[in-house]
Amino acid sequence: MIVLGIETSCDETAVSICKDGNILSNVISSQEIHTRFGGVVPEIASREHEKMLNKITIKALKDASIKIDEIEGIAVTNGPGLAGSLLTGVSFAKGLALGLKIKIISINHLEAHIIANLLDNPDIGFPFLCLLVSGGHTQLWSIIEINNYILLGETRDDAAGEAFDKGARIMGLGYPGGPEIEKCAINGNAKLIKFPRALSHSKKIEFSFSGVKTSLLYYMDSFNESNNCSLADVAASYQQAIIDSLINKIELATIQTGIKTITIAGGVAKNSVLRSQLKKNFPKNKIIFPDMNYCTDNAAMVSNLGEIKFNLGSQSNLNFGIFPNFQL
Ligand code: KG4
Ligand code: ZN
Repeated sequence: MIVLGIETSCDETAVSICKDGNILSNVISSQEIHTRFGGVVPEIASREHEKMLNKITIKALKDASIKIDEIEGIAVTNGPGLAGSLLTGVSFAKGLALGLKIKIISINHLEAHIIANLLDNPDIGFPFLCLLVSGGHTQLWSIIEINNYILLGETRDDAAGEAFDKGARIMGLGYPGGPEIEKCAINGNAKLIKFPRALSHSKKIEFSFSGVKTSLLYYMDSFNESNNCSLADVAASYQQAIIDSLINKIELATIQTGIKTITIAGGVAKNSVLRSQLKKNFPKNKIIFPDMNYCTDNAAMVSNLGEIKFNLGSQSNLNFGIFPNFQL
């Protein structure tokens, strides 16, 4: 079937068309305007979505060579995310579904990130582990099958993406922080500074990133770039501390569950050091990475999950709401 997916949970306006499991178009408009504020301004984000949604939808149809009346279902993110941003996408989606007299399904943003792993790997094989690392979440999931997910553990405080974003701000780098730190760290020595790896001795699957961030803050207070220590060294050491904490708990999860397939999802899953170290640390496991375009917020993951759910017989009533704090 042909499904149009809409994603507006934060600061990306995104529309995608999925047909029989294939992504025909995946259009994303990133709101650059927030860069100057060092973070997303919710009121501005919803106004920008409002401005862009129509244009992006027309482009998604054009890129896919699909006419609007060929669409058979609409899938839209209804949480978690910023309330105003979610509302613009959901209202737009409901209007489209009503006008076209077609079915609609609400999609959990976190589930869409996780199931994005199936986009290029439809035969992945269940169960699999998924480390979901985004700007707002750091969770380890056991994915038994579609609609059956077990939360193995999550962060006690900051998310990994948040640690990258706040760390970048402390180091005077740009926003979003993850790609900035990754770039800055390229020629750095990741072993030079020993930033803390919280909870590394605990046998519980849980994360904490507030300590490493505070430790960076103190370090930068007295930091002067020199031949012995450059900003690249600080960025590489900080990035390594976050990655070590993530890998440590994935290892614990493989031992505790016996599950062999490991996947990652969310914006931090774009990090190439995380990707290469996962492969190095788990040589006997099947490791799956979503395509780079399906890691940060996008609508391909929404149209794809929408189609999977429609095919399983699910759909939503038109009166569904938004859930800014939606849990999976
Ligand atoms: O999934 P996402 O696009 O949005 C949320 O749902 O939160 O994730 C955004 C997060 C940001 O914190 C950003 O800094 C991080 O993903 N990120 C990265 C990289 N690219 C994006 N973190 C580390 N390395 C990257 N290359
Ligand atoms: Zn996301």
